[in-house]
Amino acid sequence: MKSEEKADFPERFRALPYSAAAAAYARAMTSEAENLVQSATARAAVPFVPEVTLLTAAEPFGLWGRTERDAPPFWAFPWAGGQGLARYVLDHPAAVAGRRVLDVASGSGLVAIAAAKAGAAAVAAGDIDDNALAAIALNAAANGTPQVRPRRIDLAATGGARAQVVLAADVFYQRELAALALAFLKAARRAGATVLAADPGRAFLPAADLVPVTSYRIPVLAILEDAPVKTVTIYRLP
Ligand SMILES: C[S@@+](CC[C@H](N)C(=O)[O-])C[C@H]1O[C@@H](n2cnc3c(N)ncnc32)[C@H](O)[C@@H]1O
Repeated sequence: MKSEEKADFPERFRALPYSAAAAAYARAMTSEAENLVQSATARAAVPFVPEVTLLTAAEPFGLWGRTERDAPPFWAFPWAGGQGLARYVLDHPAAVAGRRVLDVASGSGLVAIAAAKAGAAAVAAGDIDDNALAAIALNAAANGTPQVRPRRIDLAATGGARAQVVLAADVFYQRELAALALAFLKAARRAGATVLAADPGRAFLPAADLVPVTSYRIPVLAILEDAPVKTVTIYRLP
């Protein structure tokens, strides 16, 4: 393995052979993310899904500064869409029971945890944020659903072909992400998966591509949203 490939690792790992350096760096990154997640949050029941508790931050802005990321700490809150889709799978367990489930853009892992509680055979919780992957693992363990596996899954990639059910909550808030998500979900549908999405009326919801199934009025955090209650619609991809 070429030594320049270790150049991305912090100095303290570079003396090790490549595979040992990669493993040590991954462990250190994981524990840094876990420390951040645990130190910045407290466990709280999800308002619309009280069966699930999540490590939740009091407010996003101070935490965002600590993460040194461009993206906000989405993983530290239950989003409106996530609350809706988690409620839906818990109340309609047949949608996931006994099936291989992928929850994309999972954030805290809320929807994945709900799918596991509803009897899914296996649950992958995908995200691109290391802190989200750490939060998913911690939240899954605390909710007694260790079968939820955090996975680095980018909606820009194709994937999820092995999943029988693909879940996507609150992914249509940004133009580029909405387009990536729709393409990913359509590919999963073509591969035979059932696809369910939940959305509280975000700006880039591709309504023409989706069929509404049901909707909920959901209490949301005033610090995140412009209203105390949001209507979240559950959709399926035809
Ligand atoms: C608004 S949060 C929704 C989290 C969760 N589904 C919920 O409803 O509570 C959006 C999530 O999308 C993730 N995300 C953003 N871009 C992504 C991408 N290209 N691939 C996968 N996940 C992405 C973020 O890291 C974040 O966790």
